[in-house]
Amino acid sequence: MTSRTDSQSEVNTEEKAEARDNTRKVFVRTYGCQMNVYDSDRMTDVLASEGYTAATSLEDADLVLLNTCHIREKAAEKVYSELGRIRKVKEERAKNGKPMMIGVAGCVAQAEGEEIARRAPIVDLVVGPQSYHRLPKLLGQAASGTKVVETEFDIDAKFDHLSEQAAAPVRKRPPAAFLTVQEGCDKFCTFCVVPYTRGAEVSRSVSQIVTEAEQMAAAGVREVTLLGQNVNAYHGEAEDGSVWGLGRLLRRLAEVDGLDRLRYTTSHPRDMDDDLIAAHRDLESLMPYLHLPVQSGSDNILKAMNRKHTRDEYFRLIDRIRDVVPNIALSGDFIVGFPGETDQDFEDTMDLIRRVEYGSAFSFKYSPRPGTPGASMEAQVPEDIKSTRLAELQALLSDQQRAFNASRLGMTFNVLLEKTGRQPGQLVGKSPWLQAVQLDAPETLIGSIQAVEIVEIGANSLFGRLIGGQDESVQARHKAGPKVLKEAAFDA
Ligand code: 5AD
Ligand code: SF4
Repeated sequence: MTSRTDSQSEVNTEEKAEARDNTRKVFVRTYGCQMNVYDSDRMTDVLASEGYTAATSLEDADLVLLNTCHIREKAAEKVYSELGRIRKVKEERAKNGKPMMIGVAGCVAQAEGEEIARRAPIVDLVVGPQSYHRLPKLLGQAASGTKVVETEFDIDAKFDHLSEQAAAPVRKRPPAAFLTVQEGCDKFCTFCVVPYTRGAEVSRSVSQIVTEAEQMAAAGVREVTLLGQNVNAYHGEAEDGSVWGLGRLLRRLAEVDGLDRLRYTTSHPRDMDDDLIAAHRDLESLMPYLHLPVQSGSDNILKAMNRKHTRDEYFRLIDRIRDVVPNIALSGDFIVGFPGETDQDFEDTMDLIRRVEYGSAFSFKYSPRPGTPGASMEAQVPEDIKSTRLAELQALLSDQQRAFNASRLGMTFNVLLEKTGRQPGQLVGKSPWLQAVQLDAPETLIGSIQAVEIVEIGANSLFGRLIGGQDESVQARHKAGPKVLKEAAFDA
């Protein structure tokens, strides 16, 4: 998993909704990783076909769904306090004779189950990540007054149903979108709750993914990020019964008309096979960015974390990747203060970071998660030591990120323009290396890929200048269907 985001998704399948009762409004609040963002979108697709449209505010909602994340400490407590706030809104609405249903979805729902319905009586529905396709039926049960708690692991059924949704008439989508190809994890790192909340690793079939990708392209998506907790362990069945790895899947998706950029996240070092590395060499549309968490640079800690590889194996892997894509931006996740981490272990992590040189990274203090082996390990590291180490590590990673960003100054490369910026007349897009790029450009260019010269480096983004050579595919697509624009990142 990678960057966390708290966002709000919207139901927007107007055509379908208008044909039915569209008086009901849903408000979805999404916490956590990109997979939750994807799941929230799929939930809203399912609900749109039941006549739900987007509520502009919590107060306006007939149905509130919290799509929760369990990766951080006190995740459940935060959900309970959010439910406390929502209870007041629900009571206010009730005074005006307007009912409000409340559902808790996501990994906290999976982990807490019945406990949520017990501790927060305002909740009507608790639904785990593998049951979203059953939402209409579950909501029907909840509406008749039954408390519904659904935390079954039936991931194949979920994928089948969500694929049907994806094949339904499409709504316009933003230029960059997520597509889940794999869910769950069998790695059992000793700090991590994912194998317990998302279950065993399951891959979607090749045809389901290709169909969904084609639908996305037809709906205006130009960049797809394939998602999975352990995405490079992907092993999906193809139509001829053979099993494809992620490299082969990417090669197939690179043929989808209109999908000009491909990414994937999050990868485990153990599953980075030759074919996937070769795909980075061969596919122009596969972006030069790789999120490859190592967590620690100490062999002792890697072992205690059950990461199943050594620091040397990680270095060798990075060399192999850089051999084929020298300009790749590497990103990672780090945990400091895992039980038993000594000063030397921490130094080993700092040394690894200095040697690898990351373009960006996420880093965390270890927090014991109940039910994971790490939580009951001896030699838990005191909080103040964790804080000192985290500050030191983050200072190094920030320096590396700044240097990486600064190295783009004066370069010209292709940027996918995704949305309007904060200032009038400004658009925000993404570089091939996943950096935010801000520039002045007309809104009509949203969804196009433009050559941009980087003229200034900011704290969190790059500032660019449009250098012409407009990608005509946006207009062309209206006239003649999708056109593939071959992407080239040319260094100055
Ligand atoms: N404590 C701290 N960080 C954690 N992560 C996962 N579990 C924990 C934990 N118990 C971090 C890892 C993972 C990222 C998504 O969150 O670095 O890669
Ligand atoms: Fe968690 Fe480890 Fe699986 Fe990643 S690989 S989801 S950290 S158990």
